[in-house]
Amino acid sequence: MATVLAIETSCDETAVAIVKNRNVLSSIVSSQVAIHQQYGGVVPEVASRQHVEIVNHAIAQSLEAAHLDWSAIDGIAGTCAPGLVGALLVGLTAAKTLAMLYQKPFLGIHHLEGHIYASYLSDPTLEPPFLCLLVSGGHTSLIYVKDCGRYEVLGQTRDDAAGEAFDKVARLLELGYPGGPAIDRLAQVGNPKAFALPEGQISLPGGGFHPYDSSFSGLKTAVLRLTQKFQQSGEPLPIADLAASFQETVAKSLTKRAIAGARDFGLDAIAIGGGVAANRGLRQHLQAAAERHNLRVIFPPMQFCTDNAAMIACAAAEHLERGHTSRLTLGAQSRLSL
Ligand code: KG4
Ligand code: ZN
Repeated sequence: MATVLAIETSCDETAVAIVKNRNVLSSIVSSQVAIHQQYGGVVPEVASRQHVEIVNHAIAQSLEAAHLDWSAIDGIAGTCAPGLVGALLVGLTAAKTLAMLYQKPFLGIHHLEGHIYASYLSDPTLEPPFLCLLVSGGHTSLIYVKDCGRYEVLGQTRDDAAGEAFDKVARLLELGYPGGPAIDRLAQVGNPKAFALPEGQISLPGGGFHPYDSSFSGLKTAVLRLTQKFQQSGEPLPIADLAASFQETVAKSLTKRAIAGARDFGLDAIAIGGGVAANRGLRQHLQAAAERHNLRVIFPPMQFCTDNAAMIACAAAEHLERGHTSRLTLGAQSRLSL
């Protein structure tokens, strides 16, 4: 099996990792959260500059931590899309330059493919076909993984991504950025049944609802209305109960769609990917539902749910083994479908 070094700089983490046989030999993730926190969100130009400052150091650190030199590396990968173009360009250019310098195959990897294969890091026996529920800050997709490089998107969000909804509701509750982990923590001490919140459903023209598409903007508005009601009445905001009720609604909605997708397409395994895969409410709901339906559900190790380069290396290794490589002329793209 191939040993791959990957660089991921699509947003606000500068990450470099080395993966061999679906095992992580080293994983460096340098988060810029503290820098962006003061602005309440990621500032693209600031992100690019930070990547430039630390990427070389992170590459050296990843080799050192894995006790390897370049001769042991079979391929070099960089995330090429989607993301902030300026940020993507830093990691992608570094990967191409190293591939040229050390005469190694180069692979440009789609960021979402990375999230799909993060589950290989907790279950190395997983093989397509399987269903992937991808829930990150920018995406909420239900993907039928037919084979490496062959994907069918069964459903998507029609408005906010699940992670985005967590971040927006956290802002409403004044919990800071990023909001997902803060809501997750608060939900532990709140009552998930305190408030009945609407699950966003997408109506179909012929009647009924779309089985896989989701919507979170109505849910976010419902939380906003509730907070306004409490503020007007002068009562203290029950933030733990609001966080728990919101999380429960998102977890139930995602679980319903994932189980439906697996059953409809006869798939016995559901891999979860993206930052929201770290959410404890979602993990509990999915695990319980999967057991009831005799399905296997695989979550990435906690540290590989949010953005990292090990998942990119993992995806690249799958491609490399199938003889796929990318041209050195490959560019970075802010948007690209799977
Ligand atoms: O996959 P990711 O690191 O970046 C993207 O590719 O978007 O996902 C980041 C998102 C953020 O919206 C963050 O709030 C959310 O994942 N997140 C969580 C948790 N940890 C991160 N959401 C809910 N619960 C968590 N424990
Ligand atoms: Zn991501």
